[in-house]
Amino acid sequence: MALSGQIGRNAPVGIFDSGVGGLTVVKEIQRQLPGENIVYLGDTARTPYGSKARETIIRFTLEGVKQLLKYRIKALVIACNTASALVLPALRKRISLPVIGVIQPGARAALRENPHDAIGVIGTSATIQSQAYVRTLSRLNIKCRVFSAACPLLVPLVEEGRLTGPIAISIIKAYLEPLLKKNIKRLILGCTHYPALKPALSRVCGKEIRIIDSAEEVAQELKNTLEQKDLRKPASSPGRHKYLVTDVPAPFLRVGTYIMGYRLRGVRRVNL
Ligand code: DGL
Repeated sequence: MALSGQIGRNAPVGIFDSGVGGLTVVKEIQRQLPGENIVYLGDTARTPYGSKARETIIRFTLEGVKQLLKYRIKALVIACNTASALVLPALRKRISLPVIGVIQPGARAALRENPHDAIGVIGTSATIQSQAYVRTLSRLNIKCRVFSAACPLLVPLVEEGRLTGPIAISIIKAYLEPLLKKNIKRLILGCTHYPALKPALSRVCGKEIRIIDSAEEVAQELKNTLEQKDLRKPASSPGRHKYLVTDVPAPFLRVGTYIMGYRLRGVRRVNL
């Protein structure tokens, strides 16, 4: 299956995630690139991806990307660590558009200061099993010490809007305990859903551990890429945003409103 898109400065940026989590990346893209038109697709009917088989994750992601290409996007952001870990190389071979993932930017951000500190990475089972962070971090700094933990219950917590409170805290404590014992100084949120849990994560981590989410770095990489390719739409007129979901929009709207800080408009259901 050959996928192709059409490039133009006013064309939207396509952003893909398995659900609502990619909005944490959209928020930062809107802040850094307010002029850009955006089409977001959250595959809410089939989330979570992170506990599914590799072949399933690849198939679902390619179906989602195919949908986004119908909007003639000029660049694609895979705002999902699970899909970035498993599908990015195949995607880059199949489409001629710039494709930006979230793992390399997150790893870069984690190594910026004190690269010798122990680093914790949390993510979905598929992301952690893929070793994508361990490989990327070691490539950037051969000496870094990385400790990972899969946290499969955190994506459903976010999709259900259970972002604070005793249930969230006790699940996070159970997952983080082995990493805290390793005396980590940084914690990479290796899943774009997790920034929505930042207050609860910070409570468990305490002040000593810096929490890193890749959104800022991803937006910066998108900005650089669009500028290099002369595809950046100026901020003189605000960007238009479309949100597509594959299941009923209500839960997406509820959690999305919390993440974005305002009520999302233009949320529409599509079939892949
Ligand atoms: N936001 C996706 C990620 O970054 C969630 C994965 C899932 O659907 O399990 O990995």
